[in-house]
Amino acid sequence: MSSEYELSDHSNADAFVFTFHAVDEKLGPNQRWSTWLDVERGSRGPEPRPSWVVTEQAAIDTELGILKTGKEADVFLLERAVEAIGDNPAKSSLLAAKRYRTEEHRTFNRSAAYVEGRRTRNSRDSRAMAKKTTHGRGVAAGQWAYAEWDALNLLWTAGVPVPYPVQVEGTELLMEFIDDGEGGAAPRLAQVRPSKELLGVYFEQLRDGMRELARAGLAHGDLSPFNVLAQGERIVMIDLPQVVDVVGNPRGMDFLMRDCHNMAAWFTNRGLEVDEQELFADLLTMVF
Ligand SMILES: Nc1ncnc2c1ncn2[C@@H]1O[C@H](COP(=O)(O)OP(=O)(O)O)[C@@H](O)[C@H]1O
Ligand SMILES: [Mg+2]
Repeated sequence: MSSEYELSDHSNADAFVFTFHAVDEKLGPNQRWSTWLDVERGSRGPEPRPSWVVTEQAAIDTELGILKTGKEADVFLLERAVEAIGDNPAKSSLLAAKRYRTEEHRTFNRSAAYVEGRRTRNSRDSRAMAKKTTHGRGVAAGQWAYAEWDALNLLWTAGVPVPYPVQVEGTELLMEFIDDGEGGAAPRLAQVRPSKELLGVYFEQLRDGMRELARAGLAHGDLSPFNVLAQGERIVMIDLPQVVDVVGNPRGMDFLMRDCHNMAAWFTNRGLEVDEQELFADLLTMVF
């Protein structure tokens, strides 16, 4: 038996319909079995895997609520937990589930300028995308999820503060939930007013992250105080599906400059003078 659970009142939007198979009395309406073992190895997070990652087959995912509905994706709060079995203690972790919408459910489409110079994984997918078949629309939405997945893997492995990428499957990306230490979500940079000292600490971390991207030939592409979270002494860069190839994309330099401008403006406005041109020049030395 299978049934569908509506997460919200967007009754005709597939993106909001969470399908589960009620094969077991154990599962409530907002639960599913952990999808950890459903995906291939390359779709699970990089090693060394943090100890909080729940990998047990018996784990259950519980949808706790929505963090944010967006133009291209919605972010949900998910708990992945397993009960104590024998000698194994109970374990649980909070995850952010970012679910990309298929094209017809987007309210905004930024695809074109970002993906110039980017290749799709196979030609069947390219043709399906061009024809906008149902499969094609799924592929397009999934490609944003995989692009963000790749960027998170690259950055996390390089030690840049980004959420640990737990797994990706189709249009859903599961990652570490960045909390505020009190059970809530960490605020966006735009919402905080750090001390001058902390601003300096944040800027170092941000520049290191941007340098790491630049070293890989990439720019975030949508970097702003809304896509950086403040978690205590640490900032965490998020929202990376549109990473841009600085050289391969004809507008790559513009995207990099805009990232520098947005962030330099925020720091300067909060009281730490940051020169956007200097930052841009510094990053370019990493690219070339
Ligand atoms: N890993 C995460 N931990 C905590 N909050 C998150 C996480 N990822 C996203 N969020 C929250 O969801 C919002 C939207 O996520 P984001 O990736 O920026 O998507 P978009 O801006 O495209 O809708 C963020 O501003 C943040 O508040
Ligand atoms: Mg965002």
